[in-house]
Amino acid sequence: MQVLEAIEGRSSAKKFSDQGVPASTIESLLRCAARAPDHGLLAPWRFVVLLDQGREVFAAALESALRRRHPEADAETVSRERSKAFRSPVLIVVATSVSSHPKVPDVEQVLAVGAAIENLILAARAAGLGTMWKTGGAAYDPTVKHALGLADTDQVAGFIHVGWPTEMKPVRAVDIGGVTRWVSNAGA
Ligand SMILES: Cc1cc2nc3c(=O)[nH]c(=O)nc-3n(C[C@H](O)[C@H](O)[C@H](O)COP(=O)(O)O)c2cc1C
Repeated sequence: MQVLEAIEGRSSAKKFSDQGVPASTIESLLRCAARAPDHGLLAPWRFVVLLDQGREVFAAALESALRRRHPEADAETVSRERSKAFRSPVLIVVATSVSSHPKVPDVEQVLAVGAAIENLILAARAAGLGTMWKTGGAAYDPTVKHALGLADTDQVAGFIHVGWPTEMKPVRAVDIGGVTRWVSNAGA
């Protein structure tokens, strides 16, 4: 698939089949992610790949984080929260691990992780896979980070669902937000 086609026709997957994804394909997605522009070559990304029963770790973390935030949550709410872990056969948690650097501000490291996630998403699309980038309250809950083996100082940038799509969102109309100014032949 051509790069422009991958970008222009991208949309998120709403549903996935149960079929697994080969480990070699997942590794290739991670390599593409880590190919992102990276000021200072700090590799500020951290990846946690959850497969098969590994997703249970995430489900348990989602449940305990929900119960902590909402002790009144009923069984149906808890079950809905846990089911998020099983929406796709593969879940790649991407976190930002910012290190103090004299020339690379924190925000640039966070931006590099965003670029890495987009690389991963486009590489997945080129492989025929669908993705959905999610966050929500669990992304900001320290118990979820701990359960995933991330450091206290890491920040979850996204829970990236990956799998063979059975239903895609429509490709939306894009909004470039207007162009503030075109500058050409300045001074002419
Ligand atoms: C940092 C980030 C966090 C997101 N978190 C969520 C989320 O928690 N739930 C959700 O429905 N969409 C979330 N999205 C948006 C979806 O991934 C998706 O991009 C959006 O619904 C637009 O659909 P499209 O990708 O098909 O164009 C998030 C996107 C980003 C960049």
